[in-house]
Amino acid sequence: MDLEIKIIKNESPKAKPQDETSLGFGKIFTDHMFVVEYTVGKGWHDARIQPYGPLAIDPASPVLHYAQEIFEGLKVYRRADGGLQMFRPLENAMRMNRSAERICMPTLDAEFQVKAMKTLVEIEEAWVPSQPGTSLYLRPTMIAHGAELGVHPAKKYLYFIICSPAGSYYKNGMAPVKIHIEDRYVRAVKGGIGAAKTGGNYAASLKATFEAADRGFDQVLWLDGRENKYVEEVGAMNMMFVLDGKLVTAPTGGSILPGITRKSILQLAQHKGMEVEERPISVHELLDAYAAGKLTEAFGTGTAAVISPVGLLEYQGQEMHLSDGKIGPIAKEMYDTLVGIQKGAIEDPFGWIEKIS
Ligand code: PLP
Ligand code: COI
Repeated sequence: MDLEIKIIKNESPKAKPQDETSLGFGKIFTDHMFVVEYTVGKGWHDARIQPYGPLAIDPASPVLHYAQEIFEGLKVYRRADGGLQMFRPLENAMRMNRSAERICMPTLDAEFQVKAMKTLVEIEEAWVPSQPGTSLYLRPTMIAHGAELGVHPAKKYLYFIICSPAGSYYKNGMAPVKIHIEDRYVRAVKGGIGAAKTGGNYAASLKATFEAADRGFDQVLWLDGRENKYVEEVGAMNMMFVLDGKLVTAPTGGSILPGITRKSILQLAQHKGMEVEERPISVHELLDAYAAGKLTEAFGTGTAAVISPVGLLEYQGQEMHLSDGKIGPIAKEMYDTLVGIQKGAIEDPFGWIEKIS
């Protein structure tokens, strides 16, 4: 797809954050955003980079009433030589298109999406932080707009990309997280929209997460929606367990997000000679393995969360304390290699890196 990207410069740029060690996640936004519009009968049109700012949409827009919305998340890293690179952006663009198909939205050529990301990052180059653990987080998003309240796919769409300099997703950085295994609320069921990166899944997760937070937990681990028995994923990350020396994770059966970090860690672990398994894992298997000393580590994987070690898993009052509340050896090795590749400190043998400069 060859759509020209018009550039409208922001004449009033903001001050950049002074302290890169306290960026947190998703709080600061850069000076520009990418926007492209879609109209049924016309296709994609008016691609542009414009000053970051509010969008004007009709209050009757389907995104506001029926949540016809999808998004992505990926990061741009600054190498030690000052150059910039992205991690597997085409994977995000292709997942965006799979989400689009599930929510009846138009797809946008994946290579064009990557071109848009690169063009935007070239303009926002000075916003990419360099401290360890920092990156520029990109949030491609698509919303349905126009004025119509009938429940059917919209006729107008906006695809946009915003950028946010980011540090650690969890407030305590790499400190192991405490996770409640949720047995009352469910996030997704097979045949539903759990595998799509769409806003409704996150709205559905809020109540359980806030109730767990009141009891001192950082996140909830969802069980499958049919039997309430098999572990699925956490709000913003996939879960991996070290069970009897093997790296085990739930299969992508339609109710969890097929994480790009998940896929990369499975490949990395195999590359390092570790045995990996993608299969249903019941919560009782975890409890039994823990009692037998065979559940030695658990960690989450995600773009925002990177590798997030789990220090405590709790199910119906039963507690599984892992890795002495520290980062376990497998999680540490995966973190060091993944971040090393992402930041350019380690050679990328997999073709995951897309250089920008
Ligand atoms: N699961 C959910 C629900 C997520 O929101 C995310 C984050 O994108 C992930 C898993 C991890 O996916 P990825 O590794 O592609 O970021
Ligand atoms: C990401 O890791 O990119 C995500 O989208 C997680 C987000 C919901 C905070």
